Amino acid sequence: MLIFHYLLSFIIFSSNGQVVSGCPRKTICLGHSTSRVSQSQGDSVSSILKDAYEQFCGSEYIEDNIVIRTGSGLVDISQPLVEANFSFLYYVKEISGYLELNNIPSIERLSLPRLRLIRGRNLRSGRYSLLVSGRIETLHMPSLTEISRGDVMLGSSSLNSYLCNTRSINWTDIAPFPVSGHQFSRTDGCNDLDIIDCNALGCSSGFCWCNDTDCCQTLSFNCNCHNNSRCFRDGPNIQCCDSQCVAGCSGNGDTFCRACKNVLDDGVCRERCPEQYIIDPFARTVIPNPLFKLEAKPLCVYSCPGISQY
Ligand SMILES: *[C@@H]1O[C@H](CO)[C@@H](O)[C@H](O)[C@H]1NC(C)=O
Ligand SMILES: *[C@@H]1O[C@H](CO)[C@@H](O)[C@H](O)[C@H]1NC(C)=O
Ligand SMILES: *[C@@H]1O[C@H](CO)[C@@H](O)[C@H](O)[C@H]1NC(C)=O
Ligand SMILES: *[C@@H]1O[C@H](CO)[C@@H](O)[C@H](O)[C@H]1NC(C)=O
Repeated sequence: MLIFHYLLSFIIFSSNGQVVSGCPRKTICLGHSTSRVSQSQGDSVSSILKDAYEQFCGSEYIEDNIVIRTGSGLVDISQPLVEANFSFLYYVKEISGYLELNNIPSIERLSLPRLRLIRGRNLRSGRYSLLVSGRIETLHMPSLTEISRGDVMLGSSSLNSYLCNTRSINWTDIAPFPVSGHQFSRTDGCNDLDIIDCNALGCSSGFCWCNDTDCCQTLSFNCNCHNNSRCFRDGPNIQCCDSQCVAGCSGNGDTFCRACKNVLDDGVCRERCPEQYIIDPFARTVIPNPLFKLEAKPLCVYSCPGISQY
């Protein structure tokens, strides 16, 4: 009975698209693994979502991938569609591998409001860094400004009008380094009435995530910066971000990055964390560094937080 209640509250229909997670915040520190694939498993949609909930709820930095995949056989067509609740991904900021939300049964607004960076260090099928499909009316990732590597694939399995808002996004600006090319063909069911007119909203870029005046997409690639670094607008001027930044920045220097290319140490994006030993310049011997921190990519930490929350 208790379990039944839990699942029910977990999967219950939502009409207002609220996404605030009920979980305590946690970071993730998984050590040096780079190839582990975390796939949420189960024999029904609700058990797959419950598995994903337990793994990711409240997490900010995901080492490796998020893979939530429901087989089409799991959706019972004789049942009314349940509204999937993805609020457990509310705090996700960065994913080092790829994000796969595949064959999602039904959701009005699938929102990862804080996700700003997908690094694409692992790719799905050697190519995809963002793969979203299913009966998703709106995919809302307004903070996502960079997919460092890999292809984007968006679509629904039927040619109905799902994911139409993704047609109003400039994906080249977010993901300028595809492997074989982005694929949006499966949003062909969207007609002109489903596609948001971002210019009418007043978006100077001409692109937006949703049909509201605060939904405009800001472009930050293609601004003639060294080594393809991103840029920011300072009044009428366009300035390049620091070379330690990824996903853009809000000002000059390594303290204004939206995300760090390497590691974040006390608010500064750096190449590496403070090392364990340093050379004492007076005695010319090797001594322990009082500032030493562990590297829990992309963070420098005094102690490893482990998988559980703190
Ligand atoms: C979604 O799940 C969270 C628990 O993570 C819960 O707090 C929230 O009320 C649920 N939202 C809806 C609309 O059911
Ligand atoms: C989309 O973004 C890319 C990269 O910033 C830019 O080169 C291109 O001009 C943009 N497309 C349009 C139609 O503005
Ligand atoms: C966007 O909002 C305007 C004004 O409310 C409405 O006329 C238009 O149909 C909407 N567009 C979409 C694609 O929902
Ligand atoms: C560009 O990259 C090269 C090689 O990684 C590096 O030496 C150089 O300093 C970078 N330039 C800038 C402006 O960051």
